[in-house]
Amino acid sequence: MAISISTLRRVTCVVPDSGLAINYLENLFQARRLRNVPTHINSAMSLRLAHVGLGDLVIELVEPLSPNSFWKSRLEEDGAHVVSLAYGTDDMEQLIADLSAERLDLLEAENDAVWCKCRHITGFDLVLEPWNKNRPEQKPGGWGDVSPMLHVEITHPDIAEAGRWLEKLFGSQRVEKAFSEFLAGITAGRMDIKHFSLGDAVLQYIEPRHDAGPWWDLLQRAGPSVHNITWLVDDMPAVAKASDAAGTKDLRYFEFDYSPLFGEENRIGDKTVGRIIDCAHLLGFHLELSERQARNISDFMFKAV
Ligand SMILES: [Fe+2]
Repeated sequence: MAISISTLRRVTCVVPDSGLAINYLENLFQARRLRNVPTHINSAMSLRLAHVGLGDLVIELVEPLSPNSFWKSRLEEDGAHVVSLAYGTDDMEQLIADLSAERLDLLEAENDAVWCKCRHITGFDLVLEPWNKNRPEQKPGGWGDVSPMLHVEITHPDIAEAGRWLEKLFGSQRVEKAFSEFLAGITAGRMDIKHFSLGDAVLQYIEPRHDAGPWWDLLQRAGPSVHNITWLVDDMPAVAKASDAAGTKDLRYFEFDYSPLFGEENRIGDKTVGRIIDCAHLLGFHLELSERQARNISDFMFKAV
């Protein structure tokens, strides 16, 4: 039986310069630097650890300092990237048994956490920590000028298989079906797209065809991986200006008409601007941003945005 898990606690990225990454997020969104965030990472190791809040997401930045460390090799081999997603679980023992049965490498981490090496299956490693289910966690959120996080977007060679595995282990479900089918339709066959829940988060799995540009390139280079993380913004021109000032460029710029999905009567403006900012070298993931697509968007989303 699937193990129940908490809300998404944090996303951990290895980056070359955590100070630069935080400045960047502050400049674009007024993201908030966070102090004293519990972590599975031993900060006595030769690294700099920093946390920043964006929307409802805690982003954990690991900057390796020592040339001969595990973290430094990760950074050199794969560049800046998303390493893991962390959740609490109310049954560590059962979880460890289940993951061991999957023949996955499990590492002991700080604060009794277990680090599960499942990137080849899900696109990221999982960090699981003890969690008292009867003591609900306050989801903080509201950091910076963005919505709650919409999804973590992952490029993957077999998204149906990733979904089945997450369902088996964690009770994940396919969510936002109409939305993901609409998006897949726009790509005219370049991508299959399915959204799965994991805790309160949405994972947007992309199965790219050879002509799908950066999603295909990342998959070839690094295997299943997080490509970007996505939020809604209210002031897209201000974000574009800040990105420009910070020296980053768009990887993709979109102007979509979403009314076939959300209904003509719910339309906001005559077009919706979206962009993916090419900043994975700074943050470990690209930023995907969209204007609010329609007045009724929350009817189509797994969580209220
Ligand atoms: Fe996306």
